[in-house]
Amino acid sequence: MYLSFIFIIITSVFWGQNNINHITNPDYLNKYSFIFPSDFLWGTATAAHQVEGNCNNNNWSNWETSIPSHDYSFLHSKQPAGSACEHWTRYPEDIKLMKELGVNAYRFSVEWSKIEPQPGEFNQNALTHYSTVIDSLISKGITPMITLHHFTNPIWFEELGAFEREENIQYFVRFSQKIFEEYSDRVIYWCTINEPAVYTVQGYFTGIFPPEKQNIRLAAKVLKNLIRAHVDVYFSLKKLPNGEKSQIGFVKNINQFKPWRKWHPVDQMVVWFSNHFYNDAILHCLMTDEYTLKVPFLSGENGIIPNASQSFDFIGLNYYSHNFLKFQLLRTPHIDVAFPKKEIKTDMPYTMYAQGFYDAIESVSKLKKPIIITENGVADKYDNFRSKWISDYIKQMAIALENGIDIRGYFYWSLLDNYEWVESYHMKFGLYEVDFKTQQRKLREGSKTYQKIIKSGIGNN
Ligand code: BGC
Repeated sequence: MYLSFIFIIITSVFWGQNNINHITNPDYLNKYSFIFPSDFLWGTATAAHQVEGNCNNNNWSNWETSIPSHDYSFLHSKQPAGSACEHWTRYPEDIKLMKELGVNAYRFSVEWSKIEPQPGEFNQNALTHYSTVIDSLISKGITPMITLHHFTNPIWFEELGAFEREENIQYFVRFSQKIFEEYSDRVIYWCTINEPAVYTVQGYFTGIFPPEKQNIRLAAKVLKNLIRAHVDVYFSLKKLPNGEKSQIGFVKNINQFKPWRKWHPVDQMVVWFSNHFYNDAILHCLMTDEYTLKVPFLSGENGIIPNASQSFDFIGLNYYSHNFLKFQLLRTPHIDVAFPKKEIKTDMPYTMYAQGFYDAIESVSKLKKPIIITENGVADKYDNFRSKWISDYIKQMAIALENGIDIRGYFYWSLLDNYEWVESYHMKFGLYEVDFKTQQRKLREGSKTYQKIIKSGIGNN
């Protein structure tokens, strides 16, 4: 074993000039190992509303205290995000945790409702706050990555109809330009809109996210407007000072839908539609500029989104798992999710499925742009398999790199246990466990696997 280890080190030094140094060595730890590029981004991620606290006034804070407009009984009860992890004030402590972990990058979002509480009025305190966070990260050798939109809208934007109306896109562009002007001298990596498909499907189809609408035609429109908004932001930022040198990406969540019963025509149909709307139509648009929904009653939105295929310097991939869908005529919901017994069930309604991570990477690689894994992680309250998740998923990423796919970084979701949207505080995604009474943070045992991989630059399992 030691000989193999020395062999890896020597090989890595020998190949030091290459961007990607890799060997597969089945003897190392009797399994698999891979040496990552020395400039690989090893990061962790959060989103403002999920961690900051300090009085957000957005569509989610409204939703959290409103009476549900339909049945939520399959979820935990609504709970306000409240002060969350107090990351707004505790960020210096949290940056220390990042150092302890060894990450060299941090993805976070800026809260639009704090920065622009009224249309066109920018709050200087909030702008200064994020500037200080960025400086603190950089001073500790941590590369900041900013997400401009992570599910939350200021109330005024929501009241205008948010992304339901094409004419509202200009407000998001104006906000994005302001943020870019403030920070692009120090920030290279930018994500425009986090997971347009999730925002659309959950807000406008299942209706479990605000604004709790269940209208598939409107969903088709919102999705199109989100892609347009991304494209407009991309080109308007590229024209600004620092635009050229910035890396601006589209963040796509991939979730593979599969039929629970391969022989069942309705399962097959539902799965086809889910994959089409959630994954394929978006990737197709990013490849060809064509927004084409292949369903007659949704084709009203079909058309070209000019230059969508030129609108990203990297593709951000968020990947967690796959879902088996099952149609049931006599029960509600009529479409249910089923779990294969042989796969480990996470605390979220999906299993651990590392192979799917490889498949997702492969599917976005068709866009022929560098890939950054902007989210991957597990809700595992008892920390039973976080370590396995980390090594198995990172192994799939390593195989993809070995196969020549250009992956530049990996951001574990999430640094801290946090407010998990409709699941409120029940899901424990954190590398650090948070005691929400005392705000104490504690590194989980399973997270040490990530720490080790970062430290050695070697993925193995
Ligand atoms: C979202 C995060 C969320 C995570 C875990 C992603 O879809 O971007 O905000 O916490 O999934 O569910």
